[in-house]
Amino acid sequence: MKKIIQSLLAVFFIFYSDFLLADEVTLNGASLIKQHCAECHGEQGNGIGSTVDKKEGIPKIAGFSAILIFDILDQFKSNEREALDVMNKNKQLTNMIKISKNLSGEKLEAISLYLSEQTFLQSNNTTSTNKGLVVQGKQLHEDLCNDCHIKNGTSAADDAPILAGQNRQYLIRQFKQLSTSKRYIPKRMKRKFRKLSEKDKEALIEYYTSAP
Ligand code: HEC
Ligand code: HEC
Repeated sequence: MKKIIQSLLAVFFIFYSDFLLADEVTLNGASLIKQHCAECHGEQGNGIGSTVDKKEGIPKIAGFSAILIFDILDQFKSNEREALDVMNKNKQLTNMIKISKNLSGEKLEAISLYLSEQTFLQSNNTTSTNKGLVVQGKQLHEDLCNDCHIKNGTSAADDAPILAGQNRQYLIRQFKQLSTSKRYIPKRMKRKFRKLSEKDKEALIEYYTSAP
């Protein structure tokens, strides 16, 4: 079912971006992001510089495929994925579920397209002084994860999230969520993810946050 929805979305996005008002969609996406997302994710989806570290746990979302971003926003919108509560600029607690619910599908499409056209800027935020751990993570990634998180986790070409250079606190939280099935996890990933020990997960996080 997931695959069918993704194929339909793929056709839709190609149609939407190539034949319909491509420039307007991009412009619209940029201004929607300024209005609704930039205070946490930055105007290009790469975070907001030094304050990102203070507000640790906010992922970079630039350069993911439009289909994946739209699909993830839809998971939040339909309560299929948990979302951390964070303070917004008006000092109110909010989260990605509330934020996605406030936006129409059309707006979320324009936002997804715009973000997919931005470049993901990696940051090195590993805490490891143990080079061996990073090397171990690299090996695990190549053996189990590089099929989909291709090019050492730096590419979103296979409609999977970019992992290399992602925010550290965010990755730690997602590894926990994915381990407890609180979040949708593709079948083939699940099989491989289940094999990981706690130490393996730690090594993978160190590898990704070392911005390979
Ligand atoms: C007040 C801060 C805040 C605002 C505003 C915000 N986000 Fe988020 N976003 C977060 C946090 C925090 C997370 C991580 C949630 C978690 O780990 O539970 C997140 C997660 C995400 C993710 C998941 C990334 C992944 O790798 O799976 C996407 C996509 C996303 N946000 C897109 C958006 C878009 C698009 C907007 C604007 C419409 C937006 N966000 C507005 C704080 C915010
Ligand atoms: C079959 C392809 C596939 C394989 C193999 C795979 N993944 Fe994934 N992974 C995905 C997709 C697709 C998502 C996005 C799921 C969603 O939220 O819709 C994802 C999401 C993730 C996330 C969450 C990232 C974020 O931005 O929120 C992490 C972390 C992750 N994978 C780690 C791994 C690790 C570690 C391995 C190897 C043990 C692995 N994946 C193997 C396809 C795969």
